[in-house]
Amino acid sequence: MPVLKNDRLLKALCREPVDITPIWIMRQAGRYLPEYRATRERAGSFMNLCKTPELACEVTLQPLRRYALDAAIIFSDILTIPDAMGLGLGFLEGQGPVFAYPLRRESDIRHLQVPDLERLNYVYQAIQLTRQELAGNVPLIGFCGSPWTLAAYMVEGRSQPGFPLLRKLQQENPLLLHKLLDILANSVCAHLNAQIEAGAQAVMLFDTWGGMLPLSEYEVFSLAYLKQILAGLIRHYNNRKIPVIFFTKGGSHFLNQMANTGCDAIGVDWEISLQTARAAVGEKVALQGNMNPARLLDAPDSIRQSVVEILAAFGQGEGHVFNLGHGITPDVPPEHVSVLVDAVHELSKQYHQAR
Ligand code: CP3
Repeated sequence: MPVLKNDRLLKALCREPVDITPIWIMRQAGRYLPEYRATRERAGSFMNLCKTPELACEVTLQPLRRYALDAAIIFSDILTIPDAMGLGLGFLEGQGPVFAYPLRRESDIRHLQVPDLERLNYVYQAIQLTRQELAGNVPLIGFCGSPWTLAAYMVEGRSQPGFPLLRKLQQENPLLLHKLLDILANSVCAHLNAQIEAGAQAVMLFDTWGGMLPLSEYEVFSLAYLKQILAGLIRHYNNRKIPVIFFTKGGSHFLNQMANTGCDAIGVDWEISLQTARAAVGEKVALQGNMNPARLLDAPDSIRQSVVEILAAFGQGEGHVFNLGHGITPDVPPEHVSVLVDAVHELSKQYHQAR
């Protein structure tokens, strides 16, 4: 493997000195890019795009051809695990993900097993191919959903405000839900380790729905399984540390608990300033975030102003990876992303001592 030419992301995630603040963007390969829409059209469906390694590699690289991003994230989806478990994932236009066979009966959960990783081989192939194509230019991030967030979609069958069927299961049969979460934690751990062995140089866990829980339930139904995953995860590979980023959407009041799990970095949404977030986690972890994705619809001068504010909120020193507080939306003009990336690089020099 060629040496990594730009290791700012990996350094910042480990709170080591960097020359400028690294930036990547959640959903950086996505519908705001015309070239993504064209490749998706060619693939026929979102799942075909995910399952064809050459096309997944192609869309992973597209944003890097346009922007001076400091990382690539493999193009895939958190719901590939339940798909590999046989729940039949589809994406309906305007509706998002829908499972043909959601978990509706106790026996559905009792019969569930960690999927054969062979069924997720397309992810590992896409990672191998993308590492080759990146040729050491920037690191490649692998990812998974958290057990709680995966369970939410699998029980509900689709995205539904408040996830009522999940809440019902949680209240009426918590032990059965714990059984599901345990199987998912083992699946996530195996899938992330296989991604690391295929070439992922950092990994991120998305807990999109953890923020709907009060702290006491969050600790039992989400955080406990994150800890289980971390205990089984490959943390060093080929003499390099594999940093782990943990993101709970709506989790700004859980930052201290998240920081105590042993992950390396925490993804922060825009509900909190990075100054407050940094004070909450101290020296324990790096922080990734946290611009409101809607700010990318503003005029270029306002985008630069948002960057000024976020960099100043984190302040001097190491341990910041710039990102949005959630995924980029399809209505963002692609030129605005250039403004963002260039502003972060240009304006962040003054916050770092390293040359
Ligand atoms: O960040 C990246 O560029 C990597 C790719 C990535 C996708 N999904 C591609 C995708 C990542 C990291 C994800 C994670 C993911 N998927 C999450 C966690 C992050 C978050 O957003 O909270 C969740 C909850 C999912 C499940 C999922 N997949 C939903 C709810 C949707 C529909 C959303 C929408 O915007 O329509 C998807 C589809 C999806 N995954 C798209 C992309 C680019 C849009 C699909 C399309 O091309 O139509």
